[in-house]
Amino acid sequence: MPSTDPKNALVTGANRGIGFEICRQLARKGLRVVLASRNEPKGREACDKLRQEGLEVDLRVLDVKNFESIQKTRDSLIEKYGRLDVLVNNAGILLDSPGFDSSLFDTRPETVRQTVETNLIGPLILCQMFVPLMREKGYGRVVNISSGSGQFSEMEAGSPAYSLSKTALNALTKLLSLELQGTDVLVNAMCPGWVRTDMGGPSAPRSPEQGADTAVWLATLPKGGPQGSFFRDRKPIPW
Ligand SMILES: NC(=O)c1ccc[n+]([C@@H]2O[C@H](COP(=O)([O-])OP(=O)(O)OC[C@H]3O[C@@H](n4cnc5c(N)ncnc54)[C@H](OP(=O)(O)O)[C@@H]3O)[C@@H](O)[C@H]2O)c1
Repeated sequence: MPSTDPKNALVTGANRGIGFEICRQLARKGLRVVLASRNEPKGREACDKLRQEGLEVDLRVLDVKNFESIQKTRDSLIEKYGRLDVLVNNAGILLDSPGFDSSLFDTRPETVRQTVETNLIGPLILCQMFVPLMREKGYGRVVNISSGSGQFSEMEAGSPAYSLSKTALNALTKLLSLELQGTDVLVNAMCPGWVRTDMGGPSAPRSPEQGADTAVWLATLPKGGPQGSFFRDRKPIPW
């Protein structure tokens, strides 16, 4: 029987930027939010900020490149809540520099390796750790924070390591959804648009609130909602 308790949600890379805002919006909707940060003091500071707004959040130290830290988080969440309802794979890096790394011909394989480790392998391990539990409990929502840079239909040259990692994250989303057909575990990817964060920079046209909106919508989809699709502004977009 699916639980009627408030849903719980784990958001990675949530000490700042879009992830932090996703935590805020999910907590405002009444979910029990687990804010994950690889840096404990920064994570604590972020949690304190949300608690001062009267929101309920719980901190976990999680580095998506560190298998043990993911495992530790999984074990502690199972112990505390017995399940995970919502997983938002938000943590991400953009290492391509506008200079040396802007052309595929100059990209160092190490830049690609590091980027893929954070933007793809981390989400893969998190899905492997949590989705079987969601399937067992009969409910789950997985949101992969991707990018237009990972979209074949809109891809532009530049930032090759980042684009490769987000295209692969899109493929992960699709593959995972194919294994979950017929269940109430819904897996989707989204592009937040160009957002004013440390990654997006100060000239970006969108606020973190706008960037988080579609992710929060996907994280709280009703039964029968979309499965294995890619969204921006709550609308499906081509891969
Ligand atoms: N901003 C945009 O315009 C834009 C556009 C399209 C897609 N996105 C995607 O949106 C997501 C959030 O981006 P953002 O703009 O909010 O970026 P951001 O401000 O740079 O925040 C990135 C977050 O990811 C965390 N992180 C990085 N590596 C990590 C790791 N190994 N383990 C755990 N956490 C890690 C960072 O933690 P630290 O503070 O410890 O570094 C930070 O909390 C990313 O997946 C990004 O690719 C952003």
